[in-house]
Amino acid sequence: MVRLAIGELKAMKERGEKIPMLTAYDYPTAKLVEAAGVPIILVGDSLGMVVLGYDSTLPVTIEDMIRHGQAVVRGAERAIVVVDMPFLSYQVSIEEALRNAGRILKETGATAVKLEGGQSVAPTVQRLVEAGMPVMGHLGLTPQSVNQLGGYRVQAKTPAAVVKLINAAAALERAGAFAIVLETVPANVARLVTEKVGVPTIGIGAGPYCDGQVQVLHDFLGLFPDFLPRHARRFAELAGPVTDAVQRYIAEVQAGEFPSAQESFGLEKARRMAAGSAGAPVSDGTTEEARPFGGAGTLESPRPAP
Ligand code: KIV
Repeated sequence: MVRLAIGELKAMKERGEKIPMLTAYDYPTAKLVEAAGVPIILVGDSLGMVVLGYDSTLPVTIEDMIRHGQAVVRGAERAIVVVDMPFLSYQVSIEEALRNAGRILKETGATAVKLEGGQSVAPTVQRLVEAGMPVMGHLGLTPQSVNQLGGYRVQAKTPAAVVKLINAAAALERAGAFAIVLETVPANVARLVTEKVGVPTIGIGAGPYCDGQVQVLHDFLGLFPDFLPRHARRFAELAGPVTDAVQRYIAEVQAGEFPSAQESFGLEKARRMAAGSAGAPVSDGTTEEARPFGGAGTLESPRPAP
């Protein structure tokens, strides 16, 4: 299947067609998100919080991003896949940024990288773009600077900060960024930026006027119990069904109801033998071919998922 080109996003902006972007961090969710029709998937360093359980994105490593990026690229054949450059992988020097962005793209097969910051990272963005690497910018609340920002607060609230944000967006566009995430800024400010730049803006907590929206999958699915940012909407409440399923499993294991004969190998024969002829050999099912994971039964007679 042919992967979408990044130019498609600008074409969507020009057609006035909103761009829905979602994060994914692994193979199955990438497959589901793509199958539902999302054109662009972000392997966000938010995985540090929603997948790895850190209290910020700062501890996330290049290896984390590469491992999760690879899984997402294997799951999504058509969507544009953008992988976040983690904290300190691009701030030290342009050379290091080049090496790390190159590693991410070479080792994952993703389409693009994303990095946070405005004027100060514009020369880095320009160098990556010159080297052939598509770059998405990220302005407003930049979570890798949470300690400097003093928390996850709304940004660009003063006239000076609004001007700085608009100039930063223009600098990223000039440097060659193909899109810009605007995080947690007032809706009218996001509108101004969206009107000023020719590249698509993708908002999160930035109101409805951006060219697209991005949400963190675990917030969106109700799978992250610790915290729900005000800008996130739960499009599903999956924590309840997951807990119910686990409780049913515990009860059925404890009651001896799971696994059944259908979910076992040679169980009927073993039962017949135990009931009838003591001492006869009992099959332990090891001659039957079984899938190691995925619960689909034997290879010969796969059991469809419920
Ligand atoms: O890491 C992430 O998921 C992000 C989005 C919040 C834009 O950067």
